[in-house]
Amino acid sequence: MIIYKGKDYQDVSRKAANIMSAQIIMKPDAVLGLATGSTPVGMYAQLVEWYKKGDLDFSQVTTVNLDEYKGISGDNEQSYRYFMNKNLFDHINIDKNKTFVPDGLEENSDKACAEYNAVISRTGGVDMQLLGIGENGHIGFNEPGAAFEKETHCVDLTESTIRANARFFDSMDEVPKQAYTMGIKNIMAARKILLVATGVAKAEALYKSLYGPITPNVPASILQLHLDLTVVADEAALAVI
Ligand code: GLP
Repeated sequence: MIIYKGKDYQDVSRKAANIMSAQIIMKPDAVLGLATGSTPVGMYAQLVEWYKKGDLDFSQVTTVNLDEYKGISGDNEQSYRYFMNKNLFDHINIDKNKTFVPDGLEENSDKACAEYNAVISRTGGVDMQLLGIGENGHIGFNEPGAAFEKETHCVDLTESTIRANARFFDSMDEVPKQAYTMGIKNIMAARKILLVATGVAKAEALYKSLYGPITPNVPASILQLHLDLTVVADEAALAVI
């Protein structure tokens, strides 16, 4: 594991974008595993800026996102598909047919999950998986639980995640209660993992994930077993490390 410490959010975003850019430059047809949430917004903005300067080419890149809310369409401003279009895909020369997000409108969970697992394997596997981390140590939407879930599955979001996500919605009632998410096995199968965390609210989760016992109660703790893990975090998130 390598940990890079950034001064603040902007510094962390630039460092993470540098690492992702290196992946794209070294392998122009890279498969990128992407994440949503507020953490990667700055990194995506930096990638767009470098693309506009002519330093990056996404024409051969494929992306697979970690997760999507169940029950909302890609046109819904709160969907992760919408987020990805707005923050990244609409501004770069990526072929949108090669950008994958679980189908939130598929009501049949088994079907939605099986299809997404098939999508992931058709890509040939993720070269670099970007991850944020939840305050309870969740990755994607793999919430603390009794066991590590392996592949894409439908989850009931925890109270704390629903509360944390409520800031993006008009009211608590509108926050979806379920989501489709890649499983731990999907995430761990990535050749490289880039975990990004900023802010003091993430400090405890980050400490437990990187140095605590490996347990499904802290889903990100499994990352200790990954052979190519890079962490980029700011001073606040690294406060207790
Ligand atoms: C959501 C996403 C995660 C993300 C987490 C943290 O639950 N499903 O992928 O890592 O939020 O979000 P933020 O970066 O906004 O703190």
